Parts: sequence; structure tokens; C-alpha cells
Amino acid sequence: MTWDRRTEDRAAAIVGRYPEKRSAVMPLLYLAMAEDGYLSEDGMRRVAQLTGLSNAQVQGVASFYTMYKRDGVGEYLVSVCTSISCMLLGGDDVLDAVAAETGVADGETGEDGLFSVEHGECIGACGGAPALQVNYELIEGVTPDHGRALCRWLAENRPAVVRGDDLQERFGGRRSFDWGPVEAGGATGAVPAFGPLGTAGEGS
Ligand code: FES
Repeated sequence: MTWDRRTEDRAAAIVGRYPEKRSAVMPLLYLAMAEDGYLSEDGMRRVAQLTGLSNAQVQGVASFYTMYKRDGVGEYLVSVCTSISCMLLGGDDVLDAVAAETGVADGETGEDGLFSVEHGECIGACGGAPALQVNYELIEGVTPDHGRALCRWLAENRPAVVRGDDLQERFGGRRSFDWGPVEAGGATGAVPAFGPLGTAGEGS
């Protein structure tokens, strides 16, 4: 099994960045996920071929990290942090509000494929708790009302690219620190927005 030419070229470029090709396993898994919308058996086999790892070793990596999704994910993956800082400041209420607004329970994907909802562990934004991510783009200082408004806005506007700075401006509250210059890139799906992998939006 091989991918199309463009994806194979991207995979070769990723492998070429590392002195040992097996070191490319994690970005290649993201590439495989971006290709199929989830991490398929075929995708993992291709990663094994490209890295020289066994299928079992690749599956071992893929099954360890929650960001590698083995099932289809909605257009917008909403990950609400419910670890200690966020939990103390209402993260569970934000999660409940997101689930109620989308009609999608924690850990599930809606039938129409628009939203997946999940609770997550600390995303390093404790100072701006409660925090959540949409397709791994961060928003801090989120209230339940913000969470509901965010999901309504996503459903109504269906943005092809979501950008953390934009979402923070519209739906966020107190931030942990000044994020610095506005980032032009964003996420086009539920795969971390790494420009070199082609998973970031225009301008990155
Ligand atoms: S506990 Fe939620 S970002 Fe750290």
C-alpha cells in the first residue's frame, strides 16, 4: 500500500529530516491520520514500511498517545480539559455545556460527523483555566456559556480552518500569558496543525 504522490512526497520530506528514519514515526502517524481522517490499519502499515519499524512497534506508539485517533473524528474535535486546575474552575461544567450544545457525549462523535467531544488531561494552560481546544487550537478562560456559543458558531459558520487566536478573541476569557504575535496558520482538521505536514491552514 502506498499513498498518493503528494502524500508520499510529504512523507519522504519528513523522513529526510531525521538521521534515523524510525525517528519520523510520530509525524508520519499524523500524516497518516490526516490522509484517512483517522489512523487506519493501512496507514500504520505504511508508516512501518517507511520507518523500518515493525507493525507492532508502530501500533505501540499509536495506542499510547490519545491524539492518535483509531476511529473517525468529527470535523471539529472539542477537547475540554478536566484536570485539576480546570476542574476546580468549572471545566466539568464547560464539558457538560459543550456536550449539551452539540448533542454529543464525552468520548463520542455525532452521527452527522460535525463534532467529536472529549475530556482531556492538562493542556498546559492551567493559568488560563478552564481551557479547551478545537482541533488542538487552544482557548483559555472558557465559561459554559462561552463553550455553548463556540459550538453554535462552529455549527453555523463551518470554518474550514480554525485559529486559536481568533477563537480566543471570540470566546475566550482570561489567558495564562500573552501569546505573542498572532499566528496566521490554523488547524484544518483534528490533527495537530503542523505546517510541514500540510495540516495547517493557509499562511502558516
Ligand atoms: S489543568 Fe487544564 S490546562 Fe492544566
